[in-house]
Amino acid sequence: MSQKLQVIKQNVIECVKCDLCETRTNSVPGKGNFKSNVIFVGEAPGRSEDENGEPFIGIAGKKLSTALEEAGISREEVYITNVVKCRPPKNRVPTTTERETCKEYLKQEISVIKPKIICILGNTAFNSLLGGSEITKFRGKLVQKDNQLYFLTVHPAATIYNQELIKVLNKDIMKLFHLITELKNKKYVKIDIDYSS
Ligand code: URA
Ligand code: SF4
Repeated sequence: MSQKLQVIKQNVIECVKCDLCETRTNSVPGKGNFKSNVIFVGEAPGRSEDENGEPFIGIAGKKLSTALEEAGISREEVYITNVVKCRPPKNRVPTTTERETCKEYLKQEISVIKPKIICILGNTAFNSLLGGSEITKFRGKLVQKDNQLYFLTVHPAATIYNQELIKVLNKDIMKLFHLITELKNKKYVKIDIDYSS
């Protein structure tokens, strides 16, 4: 692992910058390949993640893994993290203060990994990173902001009881890796929304 990521990870493990440190079992730093072309960003750890200190290892994580497998990608090839690194009690949505406090770690992860695309999973990440809402309207789109590309899709947890959304997630992840291949080959990719202009 990159030494800088190791430092970020250690800082997350020891962090007491917001109230969530009081109720967590373990902080959940990002995990994966530091040379990845893509960072997946979820909301916050759930119960399994809190118990084990690893992101996306519960039911939602299974959905994400399956979508990756269908696109021919293994989890080890990518980097997976969350906006907030400690579990909010009863899985409530993290508050603005918690998100703003914790976002520094995400910024650091992004600046070390320098992904071609940041894949936003669901509304909390959409709102925290791009100020957006209503992900179901914008999912499947490629966004540019401040010289960074973002791809929007639904949160894997939202697909748990919704067969239609599973298809949507799988299709979106497929498109994401197609876009990454095009970018690697220096081909033109269509930007759907440009927040820079
Ligand atoms: N949901 C998230 O947003 N992140 C996780 O790590 C697990 C579930
Ligand atoms: Fe620190 Fe983030 Fe955990 Fe809050 S949620 S204690 S800021 S690591």
